[in-house]
Amino acid sequence: MSGSASAPAAAARPRLLISRAVFPEAVAQLAAHFDVHCNADDAEWTPGELSERLTGCQALLATAGEPITAALMDAHPGLRAVCLMTVGFNNVDVAACEARGVLVTNAPGVLTETTADLGFALMMAAARRLGEAERYVREGRWTKWGFDLLIGRDIHGSTLGILGMGRIGQAIARRGALGFGMNVIYHNRSRLPADEEAPLGARYVDKATLLRESDHLVLVLPYTPQNRHAIGAAELALMKPTATLTNVARGGIVDDLALARALREGKLAAAGLDVFETEPEVPAELRDLDNVVLLPHIGSATEVTRRRMVGRAVDNLIAAFTGGEPPTPVSPAVRDAWRARWATAGT
Ligand code: 8YV
Repeated sequence: MSGSASAPAAAARPRLLISRAVFPEAVAQLAAHFDVHCNADDAEWTPGELSERLTGCQALLATAGEPITAALMDAHPGLRAVCLMTVGFNNVDVAACEARGVLVTNAPGVLTETTADLGFALMMAAARRLGEAERYVREGRWTKWGFDLLIGRDIHGSTLGILGMGRIGQAIARRGALGFGMNVIYHNRSRLPADEEAPLGARYVDKATLLRESDHLVLVLPYTPQNRHAIGAAELALMKPTATLTNVARGGIVDDLALARALREGKLAAAGLDVFETEPEVPAELRDLDNVVLLPHIGSATEVTRRRMVGRAVDNLIAAFTGGEPPTPVSPAVRDAWRARWATAGT
């Protein structure tokens, strides 16, 4: 749906830009409240193209892929709300939004279990060499059984290490402890309260211990500039050469080239990666390796979950522009700054 200039009520409705293609039902729902302009072709806009299309808009529905910067907001002082369909919001300069009274919302909670499923699947694929095995069959190389053919590492009974124990980390811990009898250890900025830790059967350890003891390490921490290359050469050197590493968090948390070196030199058994620092570019150093399973950032990609994610952004947008309470601001401070700025402005 692009524009609705011919609809009589369009002028009264706030103008909304949807920066990527989404479910048509969501666009239709929004069109009841907004003058909707949608990137129906799903083109990947440059920052300049995004800014151009944002002209005259009061609202933006975006993903974690578009940089939402202070400069973008300064170019569009009428912008009131940026509502993301993603849980991650490392692409948004939240402090700059708060300073300008621009609401920022994300989509926590709705993709937890789906992303945990994918994280677990990816860890298992790396440990049991599923990518290699699949290629082996497809390429017609399977001619006989062998005692050591594609032998991998056990999941059950092994030690699952989780770096970042938020909602998704806890959902992975539950799968490991309850479903696969894994011994779960974790490291996080802060330790979980005892009543949350106990049902997960998880033990809090420092980061070095986590790296040393994990048989399968899964990264689920949010990306911040401080977390850039939280797993680099030094951290990889602490890991067991028999261990696997799985990243379903964000590219940039892992130093991809250091990881490729460790995998090539046998310092780590295998890796499963759904995210990359340079995505959608994947370094050739990783693509050339057999002991890494590579996915195109599909952690939350099931139909039900993607509908819920968009639905969360829709709910936030409608609430923000109809005098309601946006359900999931990224912080109370950003919501309060937005309220203070626009409370008397009407919609
Ligand atoms: C998205 C995600 O698919 O929600 C997030 O933070 O990482 C994924 O669910 C991805 O961010 C799209 O940009």
